[in-house]
Amino acid sequence: MGLQLCFILPAAITFVTMEHGVTYIRNVWYMAAWEEEIEGDSLLARRLLDKPWVIFRKADGSYAMLGNLCPHRFAPLSQGRRKGDTIACPYHGLEYDAAGLCTRNPFSDLIPPHARVDAPPVVARHRGVWFWAGDADKADPALIPDFSAIEVEQPMVHGRTLFPAHYEIITDNLIDLSHTEFIHEDSFRMNGKFLAGQYSGDEDETGAIWSRWAFYDTPRPAWLYGVAADARMDEWLDMRWHAPASMLLEVGFTLAGRPREEAPVPAFVNPHILTPETAETTHYFYTRQPGEEAEAMTRQVFEMEDLPMLEAIQHALGASAEGAAFWDLKPVVLNIDAAAVRVRRRLMKLRREEAG
Ligand code: FES
Ligand SMILES: [Fe+2]
Repeated sequence: MGLQLCFILPAAITFVTMEHGVTYIRNVWYMAAWEEEIEGDSLLARRLLDKPWVIFRKADGSYAMLGNLCPHRFAPLSQGRRKGDTIACPYHGLEYDAAGLCTRNPFSDLIPPHARVDAPPVVARHRGVWFWAGDADKADPALIPDFSAIEVEQPMVHGRTLFPAHYEIITDNLIDLSHTEFIHEDSFRMNGKFLAGQYSGDEDETGAIWSRWAFYDTPRPAWLYGVAADARMDEWLDMRWHAPASMLLEVGFTLAGRPREEAPVPAFVNPHILTPETAETTHYFYTRQPGEEAEAMTRQVFEMEDLPMLEAIQHALGASAEGAAFWDLKPVVLNIDAAAVRVRRRLMKLRREEAG
C-alpha cells in the first residue's frame, strides 16, 4: 500500500497543481520593475509569483533580487540597511550579499549553511529589470523579448498598475483589442471600426504569437498630425506576445492603399508586460506620454474601464482562470480569439513541459 501510494500520489498531485490550480511557468524571463522604480541605494519590496522579493541596484549599476524573508526570524530584508552590495537584516543584523549568501553573523564567526536567500538571475534590458524564475543555467538574456522599440528619446512615463486578476485573464483582454469597441466606447468612440476590420492571429518562426487587426479606407483620426484632414487611411494594430505575458502593441497608419513602409508618421509602440503578483493579482507594466491629459486617459481606460471588468471575470472564474480548468468551462470561441487560443494553448504546453 505504501509503495502504491508513492507511485500514485505524485501523479495525482501533479494533475491537481498543473491543471486546476495556479502553476507559474519558471523557465522564462519576467519583468520585475522598471529601472526608474529603483532609485539610488533604495530597496524595492515587491511580491512576484507569490513570493516576497527585494530588488536593488549594485555599485556597478547592475541589479540584484533577493528573497525578502531573512531565514532567521523572517524579517523583510527590504527594511534593512545597504552596506555596499550587501543588505544587513533589520532584526538581528545577519548580512547577505547580492548572491543571497550570508556573509556576516554579528554574533559569531560561524555562518549557518542554510542562512541564504534565493537570488535569481537578473538583467536590465529595455528600461526594465527582468528576472529568470527557473533553472539559473538556462537563463539566457538573449531570450528576453525585444522591447528595444520602446527605448525612445522623448520622455515617457513608465507606469505600473496592480490589476486584481490572473495574468491570463488580462492577456485575453490585451490580445483581443476588439473589446475597445464596447468597454472603451466612451474613451475611443470606435463607431464600428473593429466590426468592419480584418482580424488574424498567427505565430512566427521565433515563437512569438501575433494578434492583428487591420482597418481599411477609414477617415484620418482627428489627433493624427502630419496628414491632410480629409485623407483616407489604412490602419494596423499588431499585438505581439511572448511567454508568459510580455506584449508589445504597434499601431500604425498609412494612406489608404499604400504599403506600411510608406507610412507618413512613425508607428506608435506600447509595451503591455504582465508579471503575476499572486494567482489573482498582476503587475501591469506600461508606458504613456507625460502630462495630465495622458495620465487621466490612462486612468480612465485602464483603471475605470478594463480593471473592473477583469476583476469581475476573476471573481467569476477563480481557479479556473488558467489551464485545463478554463477549457472545462467550455468557453465560446469566436474568430477574434485566434491569438488568445494560441496563447492559452502555449502556456498549457509550457506548464506541461516543466511538470515533466
Ligand atoms: S530575522 Fe534576520 S537576522 Fe534575525
Ligand atoms: Fe482595454
